[in-house]
Amino acid sequence: MGNILIRGATVLTMESSDSVFEDGEIAIAGDRIASAGPRGSAPEGFSPEKIIDGSGKVVMPGFVNSHTHAAMTLFRGYADDMPLMKWLSEKIWPAEERLQPEDIYWGTMLCCLEMIKSGTTSFADMYFEMDMVARAVEECGMRACLSRGMIGVAPTARKAVEESAALVEQWHGGANGRIRVMFGPHAPYTCPPDYLKEVIGLAGRYGVGIHMHVSETGDEVEQIKSMYGTSPVKYLDSLGLFELPVLAAHCVHLDESDIEILASKKVGIAHCPESNMKLASGVSPVARLINSGAPVGLGTDGAASNNNLDMFEEMHCASLLQKVTAGDPTVLPSYTALKLATAGGAQAIGFPDLGLLKPGMKADLIMIEFNKPHLCPRHDVMAHLVYSARSADVDTVVIDGEIVMEGRKVLTMDEDEVMNRAQLHAFRLAGEKG
Ligand code: NI
Repeated sequence: MGNILIRGATVLTMESSDSVFEDGEIAIAGDRIASAGPRGSAPEGFSPEKIIDGSGKVVMPGFVNSHTHAAMTLFRGYADDMPLMKWLSEKIWPAEERLQPEDIYWGTMLCCLEMIKSGTTSFADMYFEMDMVARAVEECGMRACLSRGMIGVAPTARKAVEESAALVEQWHGGANGRIRVMFGPHAPYTCPPDYLKEVIGLAGRYGVGIHMHVSETGDEVEQIKSMYGTSPVKYLDSLGLFELPVLAAHCVHLDESDIEILASKKVGIAHCPESNMKLASGVSPVARLINSGAPVGLGTDGAASNNNLDMFEEMHCASLLQKVTAGDPTVLPSYTALKLATAGGAQAIGFPDLGLLKPGMKADLIMIEFNKPHLCPRHDVMAHLVYSARSADVDTVVIDGEIVMEGRKVLTMDEDEVMNRAQLHAFRLAGEKG
């Protein structure tokens, strides 16, 4: 890990909507940003081992995908156009029962490859066989918040508690601090109150957070109301969940008092507009959540319900979906969409020193090629990034001060091998009968 200087790029520090330096310069010292600003702003005496010419390109913080199930890349295109519960119970859960650790490893590697190539530098993952996920993250150089998915009503409930505790002990702070761990109770309707209380107690003792699906569908809200007489958010609040750092995925169906609780407890929210649209779950009141002050990030959810891990598409959809739903084109402007995809997500998944290019922050950044017809003329760089740029425009990716992709070539893995192995594992899973 040597010092790097990026010179001549347009630099978006993301500190405010006008923090744009047309002829900018970024100095990276080890794993941190030393400076970000106009040409000549690098600290006196800064001696780079590598100088990157950024002319024609835009540099910004890397994307944070705040909710994924990485190895579900293996089920991309395997089952589509179905209602959520039928999709889960008839297709996804039976296939998941056949998953072996090596499947998870190669599915996660495919996910990481796709994420790096589309400018994502961090993600929050909930799945199982998380040792395999941690291994993939360590090797590919990404940053991640990992959770072992826990289903309290399943026969694996006990095993999930033991494996979650082991995951915290083995991997929290691992891979040079690039890996953090949260407990991952799947959802209020799959985890009974006693089980949740046990998980909350354990997370508190370990000093880690909780990653959970919350209020994803109208059916979930009805079910929780009939079981506990209140909304999922108020039910979880009554158990003390929100006294811990929480990453709540989806939060689609909320009333005003739910939003107040999420805001006052600073619950991190992973807004997943494409998954919510594809599964017809509904439209999250995300503009209201942002205004309430809750930390909001963007997530793709698993590749089986999206069907890719492209944060450019997610920003684009998040903005357009809010506009058409509110009947107001000023809702969720481009700077806000970029904030959700970077600093908002970083805060939501528990990495507070990410998402801004300023001295002292972790050096996770991406460089995007702007010499393209669909990015010309350059009236507004932020508008182009949200409404017109594509993931294939990402040229260079730096994570933790290390160059992970340069000139679209990923340096930490063999791209062909990852795709070939993932395809073999996916076809075996699809071909086997339970
Ligand atoms: Ni999910």
